[in-house]
Amino acid sequence: MPSLSTTYLITGTLRGTGLEMMHRLLDGGAMVIAACRNLVKATNLCRLQESGLAQGRLRIVQLDVTDDVSITDTIKVVAEPHPRGIDVLIHNTGIADVKGYSKLLDHGRQTILHNINTNVVSPVIITQYFLPLLKTPSADKQLILMVASSSGVAEVYGISKVAVNKMFAELAIDLKDRDITVAGIHPG
Ligand SMILES: NC(=O)c1ccc[n+]([C@@H]2O[C@H](COP(=O)([O-])OP(=O)(O)OC[C@H]3O[C@@H](n4cnc5c(N)ncnc54)[C@H](OP(=O)(O)O)[C@@H]3O)[C@@H](O)[C@H]2O)c1
Repeated sequence: MPSLSTTYLITGTLRGTGLEMMHRLLDGGAMVIAACRNLVKATNLCRLQESGLAQGRLRIVQLDVTDDVSITDTIKVVAEPHPRGIDVLIHNTGIADVKGYSKLLDHGRQTILHNINTNVVSPVIITQYFLPLLKTPSADKQLILMVASSSGVAEVYGISKVAVNKMFAELAIDLKDRDITVAGIHPG
């Protein structure tokens, strides 16, 4: 059960599982930093921020997971009001940008790279940048959660999600000595 002493940062919170996870965490009493690509579209998050559910525990920040400048800007915005860092980083953002289901051989380099860049490369890069915020001297627990997929029905998406499963296993090994746990979840 989340608590006020637990601060979560979730990526891709405008809709879908990110939005739902955020609701559940707020309901459980956690402090939530909701990262979304486009603040202009975040009217639902702004409404939630003012609602009785959030009670001052929701911060909204801009983050395009594929953009290194956006990532470093987000770190600055998050670090100042959260000097003790964040406890849980949830890599929720994931795309299946394949213009409908079709054969793998139908897709060009840009489509394949775009899906793999967003789903696999971006969580690794964000984890690198966020490590100082995850491991502050006063923090006693840190967790990185990857939203994976058990199957991955669409071909390019499926390839990227197989890579995500292997990627978080590798991150778990890399971060073991720092006492940071890495886990994958399948939302069903
Ligand atoms: N839904 C399922 O049944 C299911 C099953 C298994 C796994 N998953 C996984 O769960 C995660 C979320 O899935 P979903 O169904 O909730 O997807 P979704 O409804 O399409 O939402 C995806 C979210 O990611 C954001 N996003 C996309 N590209 C981004 C970027 N470059 N930077 C920042 N945010 C970006 C989107 O923001 P915009 O509004 O700006 O596009 C949106 O808020 C994914 O990792 C998916 O693979 C979902």
